[in-house]
Amino acid sequence: MSEFQTSVHVATIDGPSGSGKGTIAALLARRLGWALLDSGALYRVTALAAMNQGVDFADADALAAVASNLDVRFIPSEDGLAIVLAGERVSDSLRTEEVGALASRVAALPAVRAALLQCQRDFARNPGLVADGRDMGTVVFPNATVKVFLTASAEERAKRRFGQLHQKGIDASFDRLLADIQARDERDSQRAVAPLRPADDAIILDSTQMSIQEVLAVVMVQMHLKGLA
Ligand code: C5P
Repeated sequence: MSEFQTSVHVATIDGPSGSGKGTIAALLARRLGWALLDSGALYRVTALAAMNQGVDFADADALAAVASNLDVRFIPSEDGLAIVLAGERVSDSLRTEEVGALASRVAALPAVRAALLQCQRDFARNPGLVADGRDMGTVVFPNATVKVFLTASAEERAKRRFGQLHQKGIDASFDRLLADIQARDERDSQRAVAPLRPADDAIILDSTQMSIQEVLAVVMVQMHLKGLA
Protein backbone atom coordinates (compact mmCIF):
# COMPACT_ATOMS: atom_id res chain seq x y z
CA MET A 1 0.00 0.00 0.00
CA SER A 2 1.09 3.57 -0.68
CA GLU A 3 2.84 5.54 2.09
CA PHE A 4 1.21 8.73 0.85
CA GLN A 5 0.10 11.11 3.63
CA THR A 6 -1.73 14.39 3.34
CA SER A 7 -2.32 16.91 6.12
CA VAL A 8 -5.63 17.85 4.48
CA HIS A 9 -8.73 16.16 5.92
CA VAL A 10 -10.14 13.68 3.42
CA ALA A 11 -13.42 11.75 3.55
CA THR A 12 -13.48 8.82 1.13
CA ILE A 13 -16.64 7.19 -0.22
CA ASP A 14 -15.93 4.01 -2.13
CA GLY A 15 -18.29 1.44 -3.54
CA PRO A 16 -19.69 -0.22 -6.66
CA SER A 17 -21.52 1.61 -9.44
CA GLY A 18 -25.01 2.71 -8.54
CA SER A 19 -24.46 2.53 -4.78
CA GLY A 20 -25.21 6.25 -4.48
CA LYS A 21 -21.63 7.23 -3.60
CA GLY A 22 -21.48 10.06 -6.14
CA THR A 23 -24.68 11.61 -4.82
CA ILE A 24 -23.59 11.25 -1.20
CA ALA A 25 -20.11 12.62 -1.94
CA ALA A 26 -21.53 15.69 -3.69
CA LEU A 27 -24.04 16.37 -0.88
CA LEU A 28 -21.37 15.90 1.78
CA ALA A 29 -18.89 18.21 0.01
CA ARG A 30 -21.57 20.89 -0.30
CA ARG A 31 -22.63 20.50 3.34
CA LEU A 32 -19.03 20.84 4.58
CA GLY A 33 -17.81 23.36 2.00
CA TRP A 34 -15.10 20.89 0.96
CA ALA A 35 -13.64 20.14 -2.48
CA LEU A 36 -14.97 17.15 -4.42
CA LEU A 37 -13.13 14.48 -6.42
CA ASP A 38 -15.23 12.21 -8.65
CA SER A 39 -12.39 9.82 -9.48
CA GLY A 40 -14.60 7.68 -11.74
CA ALA A 41 -14.91 10.73 -13.99
CA LEU A 42 -11.13 10.64 -14.58
CA TYR A 43 -11.32 7.01 -15.77
CA ARG A 44 -14.35 7.89 -17.90
CA VAL A 45 -12.54 10.92 -19.37
CA THR A 46 -9.55 8.70 -20.18
CA ALA A 47 -11.85 6.23 -21.98
CA LEU A 48 -13.62 9.02 -23.87
CA ALA A 49 -10.36 10.73 -24.87
CA ALA A 50 -9.01 7.37 -26.11
CA MET A 51 -12.20 6.83 -28.12
CA ASN A 52 -11.98 10.33 -29.61
CA GLN A 53 -8.34 9.79 -30.54
CA GLY A 54 -9.08 6.38 -32.08
CA VAL A 55 -6.71 4.63 -29.65
CA ASP A 56 -6.70 0.82 -29.69
CA PHE A 57 -8.17 -0.38 -26.37
CA ALA A 58 -5.83 -3.37 -26.47
CA ASP A 59 -2.79 -1.03 -26.39
CA ALA A 60 -2.03 -0.43 -22.68
CA ASP A 61 0.89 1.93 -23.35
CA ALA A 62 -1.17 4.14 -25.63
CA LEU A 63 -3.99 4.25 -23.05
CA ALA A 64 -1.53 5.19 -20.29
CA ALA A 65 -0.19 7.99 -22.53
CA VAL A 66 -3.75 9.28 -22.95
CA ALA A 67 -4.21 9.25 -19.14
CA SER A 68 -0.90 11.09 -18.61
CA ASN A 69 -1.76 13.83 -21.08
CA LEU A 70 -5.40 14.51 -20.25
CA ASP A 71 -6.45 18.07 -20.99
CA VAL A 72 -9.31 18.03 -18.50
CA ARG A 73 -10.81 20.70 -16.26
CA PHE A 74 -13.49 20.47 -13.57
CA ILE A 75 -15.39 23.74 -13.49
CA PRO A 76 -17.90 24.54 -10.72
CA SER A 77 -21.32 25.11 -12.29
CA GLU A 78 -24.95 25.30 -11.17
CA ASP A 79 -25.48 21.53 -11.38
CA GLY A 80 -22.22 20.47 -9.79
CA LEU A 81 -18.91 20.24 -11.62
CA ALA A 82 -18.83 20.68 -15.39
CA ILE A 83 -16.19 18.44 -16.97
CA VAL A 84 -14.35 19.94 -19.92
CA LEU A 85 -12.12 17.74 -22.09
CA ALA A 86 -9.91 19.48 -24.66
CA GLY A 87 -12.13 22.56 -24.45
CA GLU A 88 -15.40 20.65 -24.92
CA ARG A 89 -17.98 20.13 -22.18
CA VAL A 90 -18.36 16.35 -21.85
CA SER A 91 -20.27 15.95 -18.55
CA ASP A 92 -23.21 14.21 -20.27
CA SER A 93 -21.33 12.04 -22.76
CA LEU A 94 -19.26 10.64 -19.89
CA ARG A 95 -22.34 9.11 -18.27
CA THR A 96 -23.27 6.62 -21.01
CA GLU A 97 -23.10 2.87 -20.31
CA GLU A 98 -20.63 2.52 -23.18
CA VAL A 99 -18.14 4.97 -21.66
CA GLY A 100 -18.69 3.39 -18.20
CA ALA A 101 -17.83 -0.06 -19.52
CA LEU A 102 -14.73 1.23 -21.36
CA ALA A 103 -13.68 3.16 -18.23
CA SER A 104 -13.82 -0.07 -16.27
CA ARG A 105 -11.55 -1.70 -18.88
CA VAL A 106 -8.94 1.07 -18.86
CA ALA A 107 -9.12 1.20 -15.04
CA ALA A 108 -7.88 -2.39 -14.88
CA LEU A 109 -4.53 -1.32 -16.41
CA PRO A 110 -1.80 -0.59 -13.80
CA ALA A 111 -0.11 2.01 -16.04
CA VAL A 112 -3.36 3.97 -16.38
CA ARG A 113 -3.94 3.89 -12.62
CA ALA A 114 -0.36 5.05 -12.00
CA ALA A 115 -0.78 7.89 -14.51
CA LEU A 116 -3.91 9.16 -12.72
CA LEU A 117 -2.66 8.81 -9.14
CA GLN A 118 -0.98 12.20 -8.63
CA CYS A 119 -3.73 14.02 -10.46
CA GLN A 120 -6.24 12.60 -7.92
CA ARG A 121 -4.06 13.52 -4.93
CA ASP A 122 -3.75 17.08 -6.23
CA PHE A 123 -7.46 17.56 -5.47
CA ALA A 124 -6.68 17.57 -1.71
CA ARG A 125 -6.90 21.12 -0.40
CA ASN A 126 -8.07 22.89 2.75
CA PRO A 127 -10.50 22.85 4.42
CA GLY A 128 -10.95 19.30 3.12
CA LEU A 129 -11.74 16.92 0.29
CA VAL A 130 -14.52 14.41 -0.29
CA ALA A 131 -13.30 11.75 -2.75
CA ASP A 132 -15.48 9.06 -4.27
CA GLY A 133 -14.44 6.02 -6.25
CA ARG A 134 -13.29 2.44 -5.81
CA ASP A 135 -9.86 2.79 -4.17
CA MET A 136 -9.97 6.20 -2.48
CA GLY A 137 -9.63 4.72 1.03
CA THR A 138 -7.30 1.85 0.10
CA VAL A 139 -4.79 3.36 -2.35
CA VAL A 140 -5.21 7.05 -3.18
CA PHE A 141 -5.83 8.46 0.34
CA PRO A 142 -4.82 5.68 2.74
CA ASN A 143 -4.67 8.11 5.69
CA ALA A 144 -8.13 9.64 5.06
CA THR A 145 -9.88 10.82 8.22
CA VAL A 146 -13.22 9.17 7.46
CA LYS A 147 -13.68 6.19 5.14
CA VAL A 148 -17.05 4.91 4.01
CA PHE A 149 -17.71 1.87 1.82
CA LEU A 150 -21.19 2.26 0.38
CA THR A 151 -22.89 -0.70 -1.21
CA ALA A 152 -26.35 -1.96 -2.23
CA SER A 153 -27.65 -5.12 -3.87
CA ALA A 154 -27.04 -5.36 -7.63
CA GLU A 155 -30.84 -5.53 -8.21
CA GLU A 156 -31.41 -2.33 -6.24
CA ARG A 157 -28.60 -0.56 -8.11
CA ALA A 158 -30.00 -1.65 -11.46
CA LYS A 159 -33.45 -0.44 -10.33
CA ARG A 160 -32.00 3.00 -9.46
CA ARG A 161 -30.20 3.25 -12.79
CA PHE A 162 -33.35 2.19 -14.62
CA GLY A 163 -35.30 4.92 -12.78
CA GLN A 164 -32.71 7.59 -13.65
CA LEU A 165 -32.77 6.65 -17.34
CA HIS A 166 -36.57 6.48 -17.37
CA GLN A 167 -36.72 10.00 -15.88
CA LYS A 168 -34.52 11.23 -18.71
CA GLY A 169 -36.90 9.59 -21.18
CA ILE A 170 -34.31 6.96 -22.13
CA ASP A 171 -35.59 3.44 -22.82
CA ALA A 172 -33.52 0.73 -21.19
CA SER A 173 -33.80 -2.96 -20.47
CA PHE A 174 -33.68 -3.74 -16.73
CA ASP A 175 -32.12 -7.16 -17.39
CA ARG A 176 -29.44 -5.61 -19.55
CA LEU A 177 -28.65 -2.95 -16.90
CA LEU A 178 -28.44 -5.64 -14.22
CA ALA A 179 -26.12 -7.77 -16.37
CA ASP A 180 -23.90 -4.70 -17.08
CA ILE A 181 -23.70 -3.84 -13.37
CA GLN A 182 -22.80 -7.42 -12.48
CA ALA A 183 -20.12 -7.55 -15.19
CA ARG A 184 -18.63 -4.23 -14.03
CA ASP A 185 -18.68 -5.36 -10.36
CA GLU A 186 -16.91 -8.54 -11.35
CA ARG A 187 -14.22 -6.69 -13.34
CA ASP A 188 -13.73 -4.00 -10.66
CA SER A 189 -13.45 -6.51 -7.78
CA GLN A 190 -11.36 -9.16 -9.51
CA ARG A 191 -8.69 -6.97 -11.10
CA ALA A 192 -5.13 -7.32 -9.84
CA VAL A 193 -4.50 -3.60 -9.10
CA ALA A 194 -6.60 -1.59 -6.66
CA PRO A 195 -9.57 -3.97 -6.68
CA LEU A 196 -12.88 -2.74 -5.31
CA ARG A 197 -12.83 -3.63 -1.60
CA PRO A 198 -13.44 -1.80 1.66
CA ALA A 199 -10.39 -0.39 3.47
CA ASP A 200 -9.75 -2.18 6.78
CA ASP A 201 -10.73 1.00 8.64
CA ALA A 202 -13.82 1.84 6.52
CA ILE A 203 -17.35 1.78 7.85
CA ILE A 204 -19.51 -0.36 5.58
CA LEU A 205 -22.98 0.90 4.76
CA ASP A 206 -25.52 -1.15 2.82
CA SER A 207 -27.92 1.38 1.30
CA THR A 208 -30.31 -1.17 -0.26
CA GLN A 209 -33.04 -0.18 2.21
CA MET A 210 -31.84 3.36 2.97
CA SER A 211 -32.76 6.73 1.51
CA ILE A 212 -30.06 9.22 0.46
CA GLN A 213 -30.88 11.39 3.48
CA GLU A 214 -30.49 8.40 5.82
CA VAL A 215 -27.10 7.53 4.35
CA LEU A 216 -25.99 11.17 4.57
CA ALA A 217 -27.09 11.31 8.23
CA VAL A 218 -24.94 8.25 9.08
CA VAL A 219 -21.94 9.75 7.28
CA MET A 220 -22.44 13.07 9.09
CA VAL A 221 -22.34 11.19 12.42
CA GLN A 222 -18.92 9.84 11.41
CA MET A 223 -17.78 13.39 10.59
CA HIS A 224 -19.04 14.62 14.00
CA LEU A 225 -17.20 11.78 15.75
CA LYS A 226 -13.96 13.02 14.15
CA GLY A 227 -14.72 16.62 15.09
CA LEU A 228 -15.12 17.63 11.45
CA ALA A 229 -18.74 18.77 11.44
O1 C5P B 1 -17.79 5.50 -10.60
P1 C5P B 1 -17.88 5.40 -12.09
O2 C5P B 1 -18.97 4.48 -12.57
O3 C5P B 1 -17.94 6.73 -12.75
O4 C5P B 1 -16.50 4.75 -12.54
C1 C5P B 1 -16.28 4.27 -13.84
C2 C5P B 1 -15.27 3.13 -13.79
O5 C5P B 1 -14.01 3.66 -13.39
C3 C5P B 1 -15.58 2.05 -12.75
O6 C5P B 1 -16.32 0.97 -13.26
C4 C5P B 1 -14.22 1.57 -12.33
O7 C5P B 1 -13.77 0.54 -13.16
C5 C5P B 1 -13.32 2.74 -12.57
N1 C5P B 1 -12.90 3.39 -11.34
C6 C5P B 1 -11.81 2.88 -10.68
N2 C5P B 1 -11.32 3.49 -9.58
C7 C5P B 1 -11.90 4.59 -9.11
C8 C5P B 1 -13.05 5.12 -9.74
C9 C5P B 1 -13.53 4.49 -10.86
O8 C5P B 1 -11.27 1.85 -11.08
N3 C5P B 1 -11.38 5.18 -8.03
